[in-house]
Amino acid sequence: MSTTQTAGPIRIGLIVGSTRPGRRGVAVVRWAAQVASRHPAVRTGCAEVEVIDLAEQALPLLDEPVPAMFGDYRQPHTRRWSAVVTTYDAFVLVTPEYNHSIPAGLKNAVDYLYAEWNDKVIGLLGYGVQGGGRATDHLRLIMAEVRAVVVPTEVSLPIFTDFDFSGSDPGDPTASGVLAPGAGRDESLATMLTEMVTWSTALRAGTPAVDSGPELAG
Ligand SMILES: Cc1cc2nc3c(=O)[nH]c(=O)nc-3n(C[C@H](O)[C@H](O)[C@H](O)COP(=O)(O)O)c2cc1C
Repeated sequence: MSTTQTAGPIRIGLIVGSTRPGRRGVAVVRWAAQVASRHPAVRTGCAEVEVIDLAEQALPLLDEPVPAMFGDYRQPHTRRWSAVVTTYDAFVLVTPEYNHSIPAGLKNAVDYLYAEWNDKVIGLLGYGVQGGGRATDHLRLIMAEVRAVVVPTEVSLPIFTDFDFSGSDPGDPTASGVLAPGAGRDESLATMLTEMVTWSTALRAGTPAVDSGPELAG
């Protein structure tokens, strides 16, 4: 079962994938929302973009007794999260890199659901000391497992080139800097959004999956 939307503007959710106090993720998503608001598909009403903050979903560590692929949800927070994900065609997963991968909270939010992710279109926006590429690499595998479609272009923001620390106290370990995306980042994000709208449109128009028929003999 897929929960792809069938009518109206293509709905894109920008998921804030980090939940910690003081996270840079909020600034990164705010920038992404601004770039998206200038995208032709959004300006013409063909697509719309909304922010989804995982911290506000307040999902506990997975506490469902039945694996998500059976769709037998017992917890109210799972049903609530399912209802949120269902209403979108596509998501930009905005993820920092934590210890060579994605934050546990983001993985947990993916693990809660299954059918809701099927045929959803995913764009990846990573950031981290080294740009978040190892987190986005992992997300390509994770999202394939829940049968989502990850577009080829992704965006990477290395912290020491794309954040400005000039106003920060060098001795302050909590200094987040100010997001200052490097040259070409807006364009990369716009390209990724174009791919997402293209794929989302195609998936809406697509006929139901072709019956693979009886297995070939021999
Ligand atoms: C638990 C933890 C692990 C991290 N591991 C990595 C890492 O493996 N590679 C990297 O480039 N940055 C790493 N970082 C740096 C983060 O990517 C960077 O601090 C980023 O801003 C975190 O996202 P957030 O501010 O939205 O929480 C790590 C940060 C934390 C908190």
